[in-house]
Amino acid sequence: MLQPRFTTILLFSCFLCCWVLLPMAESAIGVNWGTISSHRLKPSTVVHLLRDNKIQKVKLFEADPDVLKALMGTGIQVMVGIPNEILSLLGSSSLAADFWVRQNVSSYMAKGGADIRYIAVGNEPFLSSYNGQFQNLVMPAITNIQQSLVKANLAGYVKIVVPCNADAYESSGGLPSQGVFRPELTQIMTQLVQFLNTNGSPFVVNIYPFLSLYDNADFPQEYAFFQGTTHSVTDGSNVYTNAFDGNYDTLVAALGKLGYGQMPIVIGEIGWPSDGAVGANITAARVFNQGLVYHIVSNKGTPLRPNAPPMDVYLFGLLDEGAKSTLPGNFERHWGIFSFDGQAKYPLNLGLGNKELRNAKNVQYLPSRWCVANPSGDLTNVVNHMKIACSAADCTTLNYGGSCNGIGEKGNISYAFNSYYQLRMQDSRSCEFDGLGMVTFLDPSIGDCHFLVGVFDKGLNSSTSQTTYQWWVLVLLLILHGAF
Ligand SMILES: *[C@@H]1O[C@H](CO)[C@@H](O)[C@H](O)[C@H]1NC(C)=O
Ligand SMILES: *[C@@H]1O[C@H](CO)[C@@H](O)[C@H](O)[C@H]1NC(C)=O
Ligand SMILES: *[C@@H]1O[C@H](CO)[C@@H](O)[C@H](O)[C@H]1NC(C)=O
Ligand SMILES: *[C@@H]1O[C@H](CO)[C@@H](O)[C@H](O)[C@H]1NC(C)=O
Repeated sequence: MLQPRFTTILLFSCFLCCWVLLPMAESAIGVNWGTISSHRLKPSTVVHLLRDNKIQKVKLFEADPDVLKALMGTGIQVMVGIPNEILSLLGSSSLAADFWVRQNVSSYMAKGGADIRYIAVGNEPFLSSYNGQFQNLVMPAITNIQQSLVKANLAGYVKIVVPCNADAYESSGGLPSQGVFRPELTQIMTQLVQFLNTNGSPFVVNIYPFLSLYDNADFPQEYAFFQGTTHSVTDGSNVYTNAFDGNYDTLVAALGKLGYGQMPIVIGEIGWPSDGAVGANITAARVFNQGLVYHIVSNKGTPLRPNAPPMDVYLFGLLDEGAKSTLPGNFERHWGIFSFDGQAKYPLNLGLGNKELRNAKNVQYLPSRWCVANPSGDLTNVVNHMKIACSAADCTTLNYGGSCNGIGEKGNISYAFNSYYQLRMQDSRSCEFDGLGMVTFLDPSIGDCHFLVGVFDKGLNSSTSQTTYQWWVLVLLLILHGAF
């Protein structure tokens, strides 16, 4: 008689266990929400976009008050970022760290607030191209921020992490098992990893197979994707068929050499750009991102961590950011799975419940009009105008490999004029160009080359003045304190 009942209870408890364990046992895809755009959607529109796509984790590069306010009460887990430029201040003054935590974290954490789970101290601060500029500022900043979190009673809940670029480690002969941190980082990495371990924080790494391909013409292209390859890497008994696993396991090995081979790893950034360079196109971006998501949610792990706990992966990025520096390359403004206006670039299953991406709703576009080259104008002296337009607005798709390369000279001019006109919120004076521009109501888009229409937004300068003011007050306080 007891038997069936016992079974029921057993089943029921299993069921309960599953309910409790399931959410933790799944790898989750999150997104990076960067805001370096000249056409910013309203934060509330973006938050709707996140929710419609069931995205539960978002990584920010700053602690933008408008963004954090929009995330309040949504249950979306947030990683806020501390820019490298203020590491020095935060590391040298516990007062500054307290202030930062109070303003940017505590004030949002009340009930119904923003669910801030991580603070990213610096963004790729050990990048080799920074030549060590931020290297020694990281640990002091971590120490101060951690103390501020303790004081604010948040240390158990909000975890400090340091997103590192994958260039922090290397391996001889490209074998993952030979992974080590760059020699000049050994000491700081030892300290960092000790801190992360004590604090229960994961190691956060940004991995970019696209950049491996972009930087090295010999890089076997198929190895970047997840579709099998004739260029697999054999490392002892392990065979690697994709760059992601190889890179991840190189980090696992590097951590192992410091005695932390089991440390949890979170992927802070990964993605593929869709425009602005050869190899950056919609097809490649879709194949890479979809392959990545399926790979992650399959929970197969990697050769060195076959039964690893599931991993969180933050795609880079949510939206295109048309005002980013093009120093890394013209592709830099085209990493979004959505274009700047929240429209999906391609179908993508994020493994979160929807089979495809859903577009942003209620986007407030400017009127449907464009600025183009006036056909009757004498365009011989247009070069200067174009230069000015393109130095302010985004013309990166015009370049070799871009979606608008090959639209002809006149097309180039019109594209540049229009980008500038939209940037200036369709101010009629911004389409003058000494009589060479004219406004049209006919969409000049040609094939894959899309002439944009801007969106109503609060622009780049929304809340800057207030925050700048607060930081000046802080600096003043510090001077009074004799910190300088
Ligand atoms: C897109 O990029 C991939 C590699 O990233 C390349 O193999 C392919 O030829 C490109 N497609 C087009 C249409 O340019
Ligand atoms: C259009 O502009 C791009 C980028 O500057 C350039 O590569 C291309 O040659 C131009 N096309 C023409 C026809 O001038
Ligand atoms: C941003 O600031 C500039 C200069 O202060 C101002 O001219 C411009 O109108 C502002 N833009 C918006 C969208 O508020
Ligand atoms: C939050 O931190 C940023 C730096 O990341 C700072 O510029 C800003 O002033 C802070 N926000 C507030 C409300 O203090």
